[in-house]
Amino acid sequence: MSRTGGHFVSRLVALVGLALSLAGPCAGAQALSVDHKSDPWWKHALIYEIYPRSFQDSNGDGVGDLNGITQRLDYLQTLGVDAIWLSPIYPSPQVDFGYDISNYEAIDPQYGTMADFDRLLAEARKRKIRIIMDMVMNHTSDKHPWFIESKSSKTNPKRGWYVWRDGKGPGVPPNNWESGFGHSAWKFDPKTSQWYYHRFYPEQPDLNWRNPEVEHAMFGAIRFWLNKGVAGFRLDAIPALFEDEQLRGEKVLPGANSYGDPNLDDSLTNNLPEVHQVMRSLRKLTNSYPGGRVVIGETYLPDIGELRKWYGADHDELQLPMDMQVGFLNKMDASLFRSLIDQAEHDIDGGQPLFVFDNHDNIRSWNRYGDGVHNLDIARVIATLLLATRSTAMMYYGEELGMTTTPPTRVEDVKDPIGKIGWPAEKGRDGERTPMQWDGAPNAGFTTASATPWLPVPSSYKTVNVALESREDDSLLSWYQRLIQLRRENPALHDGSLTMLNVDGNNVLSWLRKTADGQSVLVACNFTAHQQTVAFDLSSQGVSGRQIKTLLQTPGSPEPDSLASVKLPPYGVYIGQIQ
Ligand code: NOJ
Repeated sequence: MSRTGGHFVSRLVALVGLALSLAGPCAGAQALSVDHKSDPWWKHALIYEIYPRSFQDSNGDGVGDLNGITQRLDYLQTLGVDAIWLSPIYPSPQVDFGYDISNYEAIDPQYGTMADFDRLLAEARKRKIRIIMDMVMNHTSDKHPWFIESKSSKTNPKRGWYVWRDGKGPGVPPNNWESGFGHSAWKFDPKTSQWYYHRFYPEQPDLNWRNPEVEHAMFGAIRFWLNKGVAGFRLDAIPALFEDEQLRGEKVLPGANSYGDPNLDDSLTNNLPEVHQVMRSLRKLTNSYPGGRVVIGETYLPDIGELRKWYGADHDELQLPMDMQVGFLNKMDASLFRSLIDQAEHDIDGGQPLFVFDNHDNIRSWNRYGDGVHNLDIARVIATLLLATRSTAMMYYGEELGMTTTPPTRVEDVKDPIGKIGWPAEKGRDGERTPMQWDGAPNAGFTTASATPWLPVPSSYKTVNVALESREDDSLLSWYQRLIQLRRENPALHDGSLTMLNVDGNNVLSWLRKTADGQSVLVACNFTAHQQTVAFDLSSQGVSGRQIKTLLQTPGSPEPDSLASVKLPPYGVYIGQIQ
C-alpha cells in the first residue's frame, strides 16, 4: 500500500511547583519547564522530532549532526518546544539511517561525539528543552556484536538472542511471514544452515524477547541514557517485539502490497499480548529515576481499544502511546475527526492522548491533507487539531513551515532502500526527510553552499523557510508560534477539559475548552472550501457568556460580533475566549 492513502503501518504489513529536576543519578539537577499544577511535564508538552541527518549540518559534510542541532536550539526555544525526540544517533551501518544500531551506548561519528551529545543535553536544559532518545528494542543491526556472535555458531551463547529456525526444506523459509520492507521476513545463513527472522531489512535481525538475557542487555542500554539525564524514550516499532512462538503462518488476505507480495494478516507477528509484560518492566525501570521520565510508543494500532491497552490496566505501561488514528486519517472529514478525537477523550481510561500528524516515515501532512488550492489554510486547521485539543503534541521538523514531501524522481537517486525495492509504487521515505529549510541561501542554510546535502534541498526553500516565515505575520510558522504560545498561556487551552460541539455538523469541527473555574475557549475549524457561518449556544455546556473575544483566527477573517454568528472563511479557523 502506498503511503498516500494509508499510514506507515499499512506498509509495515508498518510540575510541578516551580522547578523540575530531570537529573539522573549522574546528572546535575536542572530546572526545566514549569507547569501550573502537579501535572507531569509531558502532559502539556510539545515534542519536536528531529531527524538528525536532515536538521543542520555544522561541519560541511552534507549530513546533519549534533552540533548543528545545538546551534539551532534558540530557534526551538522561540518556537516553544518542550522536548526534542532525536531519531537514532547511535553507531550504525545506516542501512535504515540509524534504525539499525550496532552499539546502543555510543554516538555515530557522522553525528558527532559523546562530548557533543553531552553539550547538546546541557545547552538544551539551559533552554528548558528535554531530550528524548529513540530506542530500537525490536532489532539490532546485523553488524551488532550480539548478532555477529549469535551468527557464529548454533551453540554460541548468544544464538538464542535472535530468532533462528530451520527452513521447511532446501531454500524454503520456516513460514510465510513477510518483512514490512518487502518480501520474506526470513534470511538464510549458509554457515549454520538456519534462517533468521527480520521484521524490517535483512540487516535488522529481530531480537528474541522470549530470552530474558535480551531484556537484561537492552535495559542496561536504557539505564545508560537514563543515567545521562535524558527525559525518556520513543520506542521504535514496539508492537513488533514478539511473534508467535510456534511460527504459525499468517493468514493470506486478498491483493498484494506495493512490493508485489501477497497481503497478510499480521495477528501472529504484531501486537502480541506478551509485549505488555515488557512494557510494565520498562515502566518500573523509568519510574525508578527522578524527574518524570516518559515512555512514548510508536504504536500503529487498528483502533482505540488496542491503543488503550498500551497505557496498562493499572496505568503502568506507556505514558504516551501514539494515537495514529487521528493524525493519519488522511481526509478532511469533520465527522470522522470528531469521532476520533472524542474516542481519544473518552476511551483510553483517563490516559493522556498523544496526537501526531507528521514523522520521518510518512508523506507530510501538507500533502496528505492539502487539496492543492487551500494547503496553507488546511495546514492551519491541522496545527489547530494538534495544538488546541487536549493532546500532548508531537511534531516533525519543517511541519511548522509547510515543508512538502519531495520524493526522488529517478530510482538511481533513491537513498531509502524501500524506495529501491518498491520503485515506482513505493518511492521510499526520502521525500519527507529532505533538509530543514532555514533560509533562502544556497542549500537553505542546512549546510555550506559548496557541500552536497545527503538529500537534495527542495526548490520550495526560497519561499518556505524559517527566516522568511518568521518575518511574515500570516505565515504558517507565525500561526504555529501563536498557537503554541496560546496553548502555554491560556488556562483553558493549556489544561481545560474538551467537549466536541455542533455534533451533527459535517462542515465545521468545533470544540470547547473549559477550566474548572469556568474560563471557556471556543475553537472552530471550517472543513470546507466555502465560507461557513455557525451559531453557537453553549448554555447546555454550562457556559452563559454570549460574547467572544478573538484569541487567534485565520488571517483576513471577519471579527464575529457574538457567538450567534461566527463566520469562517474556506478552511478557516477561529479561536476565541467566551465572555
Ligand atoms: C519505525 C521507524 O520509524 C522507521 O523509520 C524504521 O525504518 C522502522 N521502525 C524500523 O526500525
